Amino acid sequence: MSPKNHRSHAKSEQLEAGSDRATPILHQKAREIQPYGKITRMPIALDENVRAESVGNLNQILADTMTLRDMYKKHHWQVSGHTFYQLHLLFDKHHGEQDELVDEIAERIQLLGGISLAMAADIAETTIIPRPPRGREEVPVQISRLLEAHEFILKEARTMAKQADEAGDDGTNDLLVSDVIRTNELQVWFVAEHVVDVPVVRAANA
Ligand SMILES: [Fe+2]
Repeated sequence: MSPKNHRSHAKSEQLEAGSDRATPILHQKAREIQPYGKITRMPIALDENVRAESVGNLNQILADTMTLRDMYKKHHWQVSGHTFYQLHLLFDKHHGEQDELVDEIAERIQLLGGISLAMAADIAETTIIPRPPRGREEVPVQISRLLEAHEFILKEARTMAKQADEAGDDGTNDLLVSDVIRTNELQVWFVAEHVVDVPVVRAANA
């Protein structure tokens, strides 16, 4: 049988067997195409060791940023008291901004040839931010936790930005300085001003 005849023979067999190309093929499995920790080659004029160092640093910042992002949502839902409405909205705004950072950090890890962490269990194992309790806490405690988390991120981001600068990875340095550091600094201001003990109705020294 010629190759052409063989193909048409196979095709008619499929049709006869009632084969349906629209049927989903389920439960497929295969080996990973890139194991975690392996850096693929990427033609962006940066040595593999430079990209590997940036990937490692960015995955740490990613895990901590995802944790802070989720803490904002927790506090958005669980906030209480006379500042409920403004903090409910502010916490959600910051959640959205942290979520944008998460995507930028994760996509930079991929473009450097690395693999970005993604799943909650991996984030929980990696983050350096202390785990808050499941229950509700008072506003000053919620805010203290947020400020502490921001400072962990700012401290490591400053160190990592210098490392990236010295290694010649300008893109990672720019992401850390222009996006991670700037966003976190601004959010710290907006949150920290809520725990300044000023009178609400009567001036203290009137
Ligand atoms: Fe909401």
